[in-house]
Amino acid sequence: MEDKGATTWMPEALSTMAPEIDSLFYFVFWVSVIIFVAVMGAMAYFVIKYKRTHPNERTEHVEESKILETAWIVVPTILVMIVFTWGFQSFIKMSSAPPDSYEIVVRGSKWQWNFEYPNGAITVNELHVPVDQPIKLKMSSTDVLHSFFIPVFRVKHDVLPNRYTSVWFEATETGEYDVFCTEYCGSLHSGMLAKVFIKNQSDFNTWLDESAMGNLDEMPLPELGELLYQQQACGGCHSLDGSRVVGPSFQGLYGSNRVFEDGSSAVADDNYLRESILNPAARIVEGYINGMPPSYSGLSERELTALIAFIEAQQ
Ligand code: CUA
Repeated sequence: MEDKGATTWMPEALSTMAPEIDSLFYFVFWVSVIIFVAVMGAMAYFVIKYKRTHPNERTEHVEESKILETAWIVVPTILVMIVFTWGFQSFIKMSSAPPDSYEIVVRGSKWQWNFEYPNGAITVNELHVPVDQPIKLKMSSTDVLHSFFIPVFRVKHDVLPNRYTSVWFEATETGEYDVFCTEYCGSLHSGMLAKVFIKNQSDFNTWLDESAMGNLDEMPLPELGELLYQQQACGGCHSLDGSRVVGPSFQGLYGSNRVFEDGSSAVADDNYLRESILNPAARIVEGYINGMPPSYSGLSERELTALIAFIEAQQ
């Protein structure tokens, strides 16, 4: 990947706030390095210089030094006050989004990110944003605590159920970067990944227009099912090529014989698939965990049928 200022300590800095955050980080970092080296160096020096050479050797009487004591109170106090003032100023800036921000709604759930745009477009695990434009994310969770983190923008904030939180950023370059969940939220926490796509304004507008929801009522069932497969991020657990992820692959699933944990078996027909979507825990296939969230019970009757039709088409 092209290097855009990534270092050993920090990824690329691609938001307007990032250089400020990095400066503070490096200030704290280098002050710590200097103090560490000074303290360890002095310790090593004294260990050698004042090594006890004879069993009868006694420590000399040492008078306190007012200058030294004052220095090690005053200097750290000044350093801490610098860090506080600097950090507080950045915190205030990061807390208040500019009034002309473009607002995107973020919903975290076990284990995916949904993004909803002002024109009704919805994406899953893909955040699309225009460059050089302040973006405000209005975030909430449908289940447990998550935390939304975009390292290249230096923004991170907890995402909570029953409450909105927000972050804002302004990207300075186009590209494709990682988004992480940084709050342990269950067995697939580490797989709760997304990408941020930073586009120039005209690409973003084109993308947004294309992504606006068409009339879903007229979409053929298997196509609607495919859209739902993407939107609901089914692919995070169910592959289409037969490979095993978390749950069984959809390839060849329809009509196959399923053997369950209790030794019983059934053919994966429409009703079995329906039950498995609405109540995943009802019958768990042998060798798999019960890792599917029950949140799909909110799908409409037509959406359910569409998903089943999509699974049926994966032969
Ligand atoms: Cu969501 Cu960790």
